[in-house]
Amino acid sequence: MRYRLWRIGVFVAAAIWPLLWLYQAWEDVLGPDPGKVLVDRLGLGTLVLLLITLSMTPLQKLTGWAGWIAVRRQLGLWCFAYVVLHLSAYLAFILGFDWSQLGVELGKRPYIIVGALGFLCLLALAATSNRYSQRRLGSRWKKLHRLAYLVLGLGLLHMLWIVRADLKEWSIYAGIGALLLVLRLPPVTRRIPRLVAKKASSAKKA
Ligand code: HEM
Repeated sequence: MRYRLWRIGVFVAAAIWPLLWLYQAWEDVLGPDPGKVLVDRLGLGTLVLLLITLSMTPLQKLTGWAGWIAVRRQLGLWCFAYVVLHLSAYLAFILGFDWSQLGVELGKRPYIIVGALGFLCLLALAATSNRYSQRRLGSRWKKLHRLAYLVLGLGLLHMLWIVRADLKEWSIYAGIGALLLVLRLPPVTRRIPRLVAKKASSAKKA
């Protein structure tokens, strides 16, 4: 398999965080409300992994290195694994599996509906991320996987609703998301290879 070490490195880098946070919760070093800290960290982890996944194609176009694409699917699946853990932590530590409270919760935290829509889109993406679905769906597969940008929008809205008072951190994620979106616009995408070739030829001349 090509890029074996690189793939393993990415796997370890993504797997280590939830394990570390669980260990910290076990050691009781996450403060008075470790459940909420876990929900928040896993939610932020989902958003960060989504941004990293979406940056693989532009990075491949900018650098010409195929290694970025080799880990794109794995990163997308990690993003899904994080959102499953985020949802599970919410159900266990905030809802306490008390389903009768779900209606009250949705009234108290309407941003959960936005998060749930994002979760359903990620579920559809993860379920169709295999080669079989790619072959079966043909050109529709690419269109379906543009849903990742909708998830990004939903994730950012979900977070904005939560952090309303402190926009500093949110603006960084939103700014990176906006840049990735611009890089996917056809007129910009078309210019990237030319820009890279120009840079390479001026580096050769120097
Ligand atoms: C059914 C799905 C989801 C549920 C029930 C859910 C629920 C929650 C809850 C309860 C919080 C904590 C709010 C607080 O601190 O008071 C939260 C935070 C967060 N969630 Fe979700 N969420 C879901 C899906 C998502 C998705 C799809 C994303 C990203 C794409 C996401 C990203 C975040 C982020 C970034 C935070 C804020 C973390 C922080 O403040 O550090 N969530 N979510």
